Amino acid sequence: MAASRVPYMRMIISGRFAQQIKALHEKYGNVVRIAPNELSFTDGDAWKVIYGTRTGHGQKQKDLRFYPPTPGGAPSIIYSDDADHSRFRRLLSHAFSDSSLRGQEPIIKSYVDLLMQRLNENIAAEKNVLDMVSWYNFTTFDIIGDLAFGEPFDCLKNSNYHQWVHILFSHMKMSAYANVARRLPGSGRLLKLITPKRVTAQRDWHFEMTKEKVQARLSKSNERPDFFGNILKHNHTEKGFSLPEMISNGSTLIIAGSETTATLLSGVTYLLLRNPRVLAKLQEEVRSTFTREEEINLDSCNKLEYCLATLTEALRMYPPVSPGLPRIVDAQGDLIAGDWIPGGTIVSVSHLAASYSPSNFTDADQFIPERHLNDPRYKNDVRHAMQPFSFGPRNCIGRNLAYVEMRIILARMIFNFDMELAEPEKDWLDQDAFVLWDKPALNVKLTPRSKEV
Ligand code: HEM
Repeated sequence: MAASRVPYMRMIISGRFAQQIKALHEKYGNVVRIAPNELSFTDGDAWKVIYGTRTGHGQKQKDLRFYPPTPGGAPSIIYSDDADHSRFRRLLSHAFSDSSLRGQEPIIKSYVDLLMQRLNENIAAEKNVLDMVSWYNFTTFDIIGDLAFGEPFDCLKNSNYHQWVHILFSHMKMSAYANVARRLPGSGRLLKLITPKRVTAQRDWHFEMTKEKVQARLSKSNERPDFFGNILKHNHTEKGFSLPEMISNGSTLIIAGSETTATLLSGVTYLLLRNPRVLAKLQEEVRSTFTREEEINLDSCNKLEYCLATLTEALRMYPPVSPGLPRIVDAQGDLIAGDWIPGGTIVSVSHLAASYSPSNFTDADQFIPERHLNDPRYKNDVRHAMQPFSFGPRNCIGRNLAYVEMRIILARMIFNFDMELAEPEKDWLDQDAFVLWDKPALNVKLTPRSKEV
């Protein structure tokens, strides 16, 4: 790895990048070289320096070769330089404010209602073993589709993935090859050569479809409390979004906001069903707090402390974004977690490796929500070493929205159903990842819970 980037490229293509970096940290400690000019860290203090800003140091630039460019080529909030990023972030922040979130709650609730209805219909039809990865995906794609484009993808309505979502999934692996190709000389030509015609055609269709959806949204009212309603209301005040930027950001918002939340919901469901003690405690909290399902909402869920700790622990053990996100050290160099790092070096904190590092967490491979509730056994945990939503000016803008969705959906699943793994022998967490996890089916047996509990 000191001599060549080839091992790095092989790790990226293998789909085991995050796990292999984790293994390297287990062997060599808190900082490891993963390519000639690239280092991975697990030290909790590295987050601030790598992803934050401080006097004398601006933002460290993203290594954009790691990120897939946006469809159509216009910059998006994730794929942009600092000037475009702060313009996008400022405009989008209105859509993610606390008052916007409250306005969006009825939209979110309508899809969670539909999810519960569909699950109950399946159970009534004696189809009570269901792939919860799909059902959570249907729900979060419909929610974010509605919040971004003003209409759902109708995944829940049709009990199936929309073609837009299908294509997204089928391109995940391709983006790993593109990441590698972008590091080679003549990458533009090489990418054209290795990309199958089918993939190019699907990408073009995806772009056209996104454009149509944005245009359809633009013809609706600005008063809707969704993302575009907020963008359009403020678009005239500063330099706003151009149409191509609306398309690229619309697409980014869907990808960033749906898959991640569904991943965590799948992960927390699996971890709960593997840990009956934690499941029982969560059931006790949810079922003793609510007597009727209608009581479960944004405000009432905020009071469920154990539920929040359970979600936080799932974010530690199964971070939806698993690898480190690379940044480039500013020309003057910087001191990162005690080591002087020369300018130009690529650096990151690996989400997965930091979360499982025994120097950060006691019993790191065990699912223990109590560690986030000041249990004295875990007083030495370095809790700031896990930053599943990243850190600093480019951290996750949708964090609060994600928590609202995750808390309400998990609470209603627990309130309504008893669940058990249909394939208990399967290690579901053993998965490939191409930045996002390539999740296999999570088959769960659902039974309406007996209300006497
Ligand atoms: C459990 C759920 C989620 C997780 C773990 C998560 C994680 C992350 C991470 C790690 C980043 C940093 C990416 C980078 O540095 O390149 C990020 C950025 C972002 N996320 Fe999330 N996310 C989640 C949910 C959401 C939701 C619901 C939305 C809503 C649309 C969203 C929208 C975004 C956007 C727009 C960015 C880019 C922010 C910027 O560059 O300023 N995310 N997210």
